[in-house]
Amino acid sequence: MNKPISQMTREELAFEYSELLAEYEQVKAEALSLDMSRGKPSTEQLDLSDGILTVLKTGDDCLNSYGTDMRNYGMPIGVPAARGLFAELCGVEFDNVFLGGNASLELMFDAVARAELFGVLPGMTPWCKLDKVKFLCPAPGYDRHFRICETFGIEMINIEMREDGPDMDTIEKLVAEDESIKGIWCVPKHSNPTGTIYSDEVVRRFAALKPAAKDFRVFWDNAYMVHDLYDDVPDILNIFDLTQGTENEDLVYMFTSTSKITYAGSGISAFITSDRNMEHALKYIGTQIISYDKLNQFRHAIFFKDADGIRAHMKKHAEILRPRFEAVISAFERELEGRDMATWTKPTGGYFISLDMKCGSAKRVYELCLAAGMKLTEAGATFPYGKDPKDSNLRIAPSYPPLRELRKAAQVLCLCVKLASVEKALTNALSAL
Ligand SMILES: Cc1ncc(COP(=O)(O)O)c(C=O)c1O
Repeated sequence: MNKPISQMTREELAFEYSELLAEYEQVKAEALSLDMSRGKPSTEQLDLSDGILTVLKTGDDCLNSYGTDMRNYGMPIGVPAARGLFAELCGVEFDNVFLGGNASLELMFDAVARAELFGVLPGMTPWCKLDKVKFLCPAPGYDRHFRICETFGIEMINIEMREDGPDMDTIEKLVAEDESIKGIWCVPKHSNPTGTIYSDEVVRRFAALKPAAKDFRVFWDNAYMVHDLYDDVPDILNIFDLTQGTENEDLVYMFTSTSKITYAGSGISAFITSDRNMEHALKYIGTQIISYDKLNQFRHAIFFKDADGIRAHMKKHAEILRPRFEAVISAFERELEGRDMATWTKPTGGYFISLDMKCGSAKRVYELCLAAGMKLTEAGATFPYGKDPKDSNLRIAPSYPPLRELRKAAQVLCLCVKLASVEKALTNALSAL
């Protein structure tokens, strides 16, 4: 049967349901153990960076070109060679790059924590002293961003994600009229989970925002800035070029890391922002830590040499990731196209595919998959408070499982999507009797 579900009679639905159920029981009996929940690099991808493990062998190797010993304290803002690498890659000034440990998420958490405790610039009210602090959250989005907000009691407002980025009309209106809105989470390239690339117009509108709150910040999480699957993927505009010299010079906090360039558990992270924001942040960071892991920063700089080194390395990642993404998308096309059951994104990079159930039964699909031995990211996770208003979105992570397992996983997922869709349509048809 491959009719659109909306055109099926009750009898056709009942027939397909019994067939799908039998197939599902068979799959369950296979006692599978599959996982499409983890947005993490595969072992093959990690192996690409193993040169990092051997670039420093002796104490002498740990001296930089000025003779400074990277094994010792110092350089709280980061190793110059590695800061230069990020400055070149991101198209920003060296002085505006701070390097941290292995997780950009920590830098994001710390940026929010500093704003809560000390305010975003000298003389500004710490957010924790305000009655209410709100963030705009383009959704579906990254659950860990939302968790940071929940942790600090920041109220989250859903913003619709569109093909070219979040709904800018709503964002512009809300930030202009509500002073308690202090931030927005953005993943401007290959968004998690939709794979969206913000259009030039969207980036320009961000750079030109006119927030009522002077301490409003755009949290520009550029986690997937060089994570293209194909050669012809457009770059996004450099938002700092657009804010430079305007009244919005301090608007943007950018974050990125090498978690999905080298090692997810042992990369390096960067916080990039204006001179004023940086000076203010460093006052507190300098109290917090004497220096992050400089050896790792140094090893990254030696391993890549320059931004082209990173770009060439990312092509090797693409070779590994592309067939995985294509395997899942072609399963969706083969099994679900024309059935009016679901829609899905076709990302040109990043780590995720976003699947939307038309009948609003993402939770049911998640449960069916789990009972059949396949783990997905929990339904709801891509929305603030874990609440997907339409119960439609599922985040699919194709990077980790080997290709053979992934094909099986995609097949099981499609089966569960069909089963949940037909089940819902049949229930509706029966209750209409
Ligand atoms: C959008 C986004 N930002 C940040 C991270 C985490 O980055 P890091 O490992 O640098 O903390 C992820 C990981 O999945 C992500 O998808």
